[in-house]
Amino acid sequence: MIVNSNDILIKAKKNKIAIPHFNINNLEWTKYILEECNNNNSPVILGVSEGAIKYMGGTKTVANLVKSLDEELKIKVPVVIHLDHGSSVEMCKQAIDDGFTSVMIDASLYSLEENIKMTKKVVEYAEKYSVSVEAELGHIGDTNYTDVDEAIRFVKETNIDSLAPAIGTVHGVYKSKPNLDIELCSKLSKDISIPLVLHGGSGLDNLALKKVIKAGICKVNINTELQIVWSNAVKKFLLENGTAYDPRKIISSGEKAIKKVIRNKISVLSSN
Ligand code: 13P
Repeated sequence: MIVNSNDILIKAKKNKIAIPHFNINNLEWTKYILEECNNNNSPVILGVSEGAIKYMGGTKTVANLVKSLDEELKIKVPVVIHLDHGSSVEMCKQAIDDGFTSVMIDASLYSLEENIKMTKKVVEYAEKYSVSVEAELGHIGDTNYTDVDEAIRFVKETNIDSLAPAIGTVHGVYKSKPNLDIELCSKLSKDISIPLVLHGGSGLDNLALKKVIKAGICKVNINTELQIVWSNAVKKFLLENGTAYDPRKIISSGEKAIKKVIRNKISVLSSN
């Protein structure tokens, strides 16, 4: 069932759990993620970066791929087709036009005024299509943590559906121990009624994930961890099967590893 993010994130917030957001990179990953989430009865947000969209052929191809797999695999859980880190209003509009059910506008590197202006434009367009909108304030990955007063103003003026705050996570591999500001996260969650979402979820241990969820996070984004376990499994397969040449066998040698991470994340995120 293809849906926007709203219902599942609002429900998650109420139940104090988090929905997994897994990034997709190709047909196979999309299939593995859908199958495993369905087997574990978990809603899922499929995040697609602009790079992945380009790699996979374009927004229409991605949206149609997810819709077709959802139908042919008979997926019963709610599935969201989400643009991850949309860098412009135009990109968000294109994703909406081509069937994405959720978009993130990431204008976090612009001034607050410009971020509000761009985000408002996306919200106004998305509303007509019942597409949910996520936006970022502060900048994830550096020391520009989200300011609470700015966040209150940002949410009020833009009317977004969910907010990605900067609370100390980073994208990619952590070079040192994550320095999470749980207090800031709790404060944001108290002062802002919409769901808060966490980028840079890979590399956080289960305890840290439980802490951020307790502090109000309703969605956790995971990409790097899937990439690492998949590539390790494929490298091992190729070392052990030097004469392999069938791409289906090579690519799917990472399937079990990806599915195991998905299963584990669902079990951590879906209980409180
Ligand atoms: P990771 O790099 O931690 O997997 O984060 C993914 C993410 O936040 C995508 O938006």
